[in-house]
Amino acid sequence: MRVLIVYYSRSGHTARLAEVLASEMSQRGHEVVIEAIQVERSWNKWFLPIPLLPLLPFLPLYLLSSSFRRFWHWVYFQPEQAISPLANPDVSGFDLVLLGTPKWLYISYPVVRWLKEVRGLAGKRVATFATFCGPPLKVFEIEMLFEPLEARLKSLGATPSSRLAVPSDFHEYFFRNEMRNLFRWISLRHFGCLLENFTMEGQAGKAEIKRFCDETF
Ligand SMILES: Cc1cc2nc3c(=O)[nH]c(=O)nc-3n(C[C@H](O)[C@H](O)[C@H](O)COP(=O)(O)O)c2cc1C
Repeated sequence: MRVLIVYYSRSGHTARLAEVLASEMSQRGHEVVIEAIQVERSWNKWFLPIPLLPLLPFLPLYLLSSSFRRFWHWVYFQPEQAISPLANPDVSGFDLVLLGTPKWLYISYPVVRWLKEVRGLAGKRVATFATFCGPPLKVFEIEMLFEPLEARLKSLGATPSSRLAVPSDFHEYFFRNEMRNLFRWISLRHFGCLLENFTMEGQAGKAEIKRFCDETF
């Protein structure tokens, strides 16, 4: 198979996951082309979350109600960020596309722009992969990112296939790793195990990567 792995990564974690997937696919005999989406201008980290704040007052409702989630995914404001010209602006020559993004509450802004600029997605099988700081919480981490991402893929005529979600145990906010520490605590409370276990280096993370590769190619 001829495979395109295309991803955005601001701080290197999604890039590392893309490299792991590329090496796994090459070992399985596939031809792999890898492309990092580049932003035209990097945004200040304190500016990035501002457009995401409207969810905060509704977060409890979002977490509790699946019908509210469906509504929210339909109406929420998804920011975009300008990207540099693509090395592979038309993906019609590939048998499979792997699309990677960090979770920025929802889809990362440069990946949204990629979805608008790329051509040839119609009829294409697209598997998605992502990194985020926290443990793989079904609603807050997985659904909040993959549901809107797959909806956009479908609207472009692509067929979303498997999903891979791998925590990075890294968060840019706030001053003394407060967000990372919160997610570490949630991992212990919710899953009864260390967040490290779910990362690329952890046992559960490695198993998840293997499952994704077996399912996808
Ligand atoms: C604007 C913004 C929003 C984020 N939202 C989340 C989030 O909702 N959940 C989470 O676990 N991590 C969140 N993160 C952390 C990143 O998803 C995480 O650090 C990711 O692994 C970074 O990937 P990268 O190194 O490829 O850029 C957010 C980071 C940014 C910059």
